Amino acid sequence: MSIIVDQVTKLYGEQKALDRVSFRIEPGNILGLLGPNGAGKSTIMKIITCFIPPTSGEVSVYGFDIYEQSDEIRKKIGYLPEHNPLYPDMYVKEYLAFIAGLHHLKNKKKRVKEMIDITGLQIEQNKKIGALSKGYRQRVGLAQVLIHDPEVLILDEPTTGLDPNQIVEIRELIKKIGKEKTVMLSTHIMQEVEAICNRAIIINKGVIVADDDTVNLSKYKADKEVITVEFDRDVRKEQLKKISGTTSVKKLQDRIWTLESTSGKDLRPAIFKFAVDNNFTVLSMNKESRSIESVFQQLTK
Ligand SMILES: Nc1ncnc2c1ncn2[C@@H]1O[C@H](COP(=O)(O)OP(=O)(O)OP(=O)(O)O)[C@@H](O)[C@H]1O
Ligand SMILES: [Mg+2]
Repeated sequence: MSIIVDQVTKLYGEQKALDRVSFRIEPGNILGLLGPNGAGKSTIMKIITCFIPPTSGEVSVYGFDIYEQSDEIRKKIGYLPEHNPLYPDMYVKEYLAFIAGLHHLKNKKKRVKEMIDITGLQIEQNKKIGALSKGYRQRVGLAQVLIHDPEVLILDEPTTGLDPNQIVEIRELIKKIGKEKTVMLSTHIMQEVEAICNRAIIINKGVIVADDDTVNLSKYKADKEVITVEFDRDVRKEQLKKISGTTSVKKLQDRIWTLESTSGKDLRPAIFKFAVDNNFTVLSMNKESRSIESVFQQLTK
């Protein structure tokens, strides 16, 4: 197991930022940590990377304990913080050489060149960091976290603030890097998890509300359709269940029902036909599609 987080709670004064959070990441996984603002994503990452201690709970990275062996853990991890601080007055190459020096790497020059190649910084390598676009600055950040060849990458919102083209490029880059590393990244965007990650954890207000393979999350995407319909008089549930394509029927109030379909089929024509055939009048009908985004909203409401 690459990372084990067990019953971690974090209090900032009175405020509980994490409440008994537990999960595991296996080597070779790309895990997406998905949650709204203030959910606790950055807090988890800071704890795993040994920047802050939890209030209680256990965390280990490749068998090393965060309390006892933080130096070992730092060597194993490349951490891209949320607001990645870079030195705007340094040149790209100069900066990466400086980072390589902090890690006491041999072959500094060779390693810097490799990082520039991997992250696609060739054409910008002779510029000052302050002169780069956000996307290229993010590449410098990724080059920086990769330079000591860590086994685990912790990336806090790596695509936030980038334009759509840069987002696609950075996602591709993370996927490429992820083939050989264990990656944990945070995001607000469900599609990002779908695009890059094979595992997803959804967190809200410090509590994990979903932990699953990404393919399982996307099952919600098989657009669930919910129809709310009001008839002029009482209907029996058994009758409504027979409407073709209906997967679930619930009574909301007298004469008001919700019918669900997961087949992608629009139930409305069949509901009308049912009403006509059985001499009911439809007083109102409302259709709501549930995409994966609304599943996320629902889980984190
Ligand atoms: N140093 C701190 N002192 C006090 N409260 C803090 C501190 N850092 C974070 N918090 C609080 O802890 C909660 C979790 O914050 P955290 O930064 O982990 O959320 P996040 O999921 O990363 O949010 P975002 O998507 O906005 O980056 C928030 O309510 C935040 O205000
Ligand atoms: Mg954050």
